Amino acid sequence: MGSDDGPFPRMDPLHWRRRSSLLKPALIILTFLTGCVILYMYADAGIVQGGASPGEYVEVPKTASGMYVDRKVPTLEIAKTVDEEKVLQSCQSHAADSTMIVLVTGAGGFVGYHTSMALHERGTSVLGLDNFNDYYPPTLKRDRQLNLMEAGVHVVDGDLNDQSVLEVIFSVCQFTHVLHLAAQAGVRYAVKNPGAYVHSNVAGFVTLMEVIRAQPSVPVVVFASSSSVYGTNKKTPFSEDDRTDNPASLYAATKKADEMLAHTYNNIYSISMTALRFFTVYGPYGRPDMAYFSFANNIMLDKPIKIFQGPGGIELGRDFTFISDIVAGAIAALDKAAPTGKGAPFKIYNLGNTHPVNVTAFVNTIEHHLGKKAIKKYVPMPATGDVLFTHADVSKAQRELGYTPTTSLSEGIRQFVEWYKVYYKDGQHKEQQEYVPA
Ligand SMILES: *[C@@H]1O[C@H](CO)[C@@H](O)[C@H](O)[C@H]1NC(C)=O
Repeated sequence: MGSDDGPFPRMDPLHWRRRSSLLKPALIILTFLTGCVILYMYADAGIVQGGASPGEYVEVPKTASGMYVDRKVPTLEIAKTVDEEKVLQSCQSHAADSTMIVLVTGAGGFVGYHTSMALHERGTSVLGLDNFNDYYPPTLKRDRQLNLMEAGVHVVDGDLNDQSVLEVIFSVCQFTHVLHLAAQAGVRYAVKNPGAYVHSNVAGFVTLMEVIRAQPSVPVVVFASSSSVYGTNKKTPFSEDDRTDNPASLYAATKKADEMLAHTYNNIYSISMTALRFFTVYGPYGRPDMAYFSFANNIMLDKPIKIFQGPGGIELGRDFTFISDIVAGAIAALDKAAPTGKGAPFKIYNLGNTHPVNVTAFVNTIEHHLGKKAIKKYVPMPATGDVLFTHADVSKAQRELGYTPTTSLSEGIRQFVEWYKVYYKDGQHKEQQEYVPA
């Protein structure tokens, strides 16, 4: 052995070939393990995920919490680094009003998109963040992003769990408010991929709150919870004071976890926290995984639609809430939130429409505005955590936020159908035609 041999064998292949037969396999194993460690570190830093060539879809190997996620994260047009100039421009786009600079997470999503646009249009500076995952066809998210970019709102490609991305955008922008809407949505998909919910709704939530609480000037936080936290409750309408410790789905459990985590951050760091429990939000640029999308799609294509029934053939009822009413409620929650600091409140508000309808009545309204009949197939509801009925009591939001839903189901569906017919004309969006929700 040469005098330069340290405690570790040399990696020069020309040298190790001459070594003993026992050393060779040991070297191979060591090289492999080193490679694994390097890959793991890179994956954790999000470098593997963001470093793929444009248009490629790559598996997310592991999350920071060490959990596997079988969902793919698209990397279409992803900049390898955050474009700090565009970030700065976006959060200074309405420099005249420095009292409010908002980070909207999930800005490529349904509620995030509309709220970002509305904030921007009324003169508030907004920066968006979204990981553009492919839980539903990402084309729709990219189209929302394009609309926002054209209006002057930049949307950063980044995952909540990627702390380095969060740190960059918080160092460039002095956010006064964070509207946290990014989440893994969907009740039934949680049966298939529970890890995705823990990744976004629990681990991602904590990563974001850790970055927020470390800011020199800690922003106000308003975030999306869900009517699903009322779980198997029988008393209606649902009131914020009702117990919410009997979730019916893993999705609901993660949303309830968010409320509890938010309470913790409010308690320890005095962050002003507001949870908004949304009730079945629908409208233009909505989520294609929701039933009304496949209803409209199948009616247009003369395909039967499935309507779920509960025990004894009873119908599901939902407090369907139009997007513009939700946007108004979310903006009011930002405007009315008390500042962060000693005594800062933790608030919960229902944002619903207060007029629940059964699914048949809902489908009839879609039929009416499409001018076409549905082929209705009634099937028993699978045991995947959907609740039978939701109905919001919004008196607290009314009192404290001035929230008053104004869009009737018929008017809301009219606006949805008008958009749907243009956006999905002529089977232009093959992706959507072929998409089957989980
Ligand atoms: C659904 O609602 C409509 C309108 O309120 C009502 O006429 C109908 O009886 C309801 N159907 C069921 C099965 O509950």
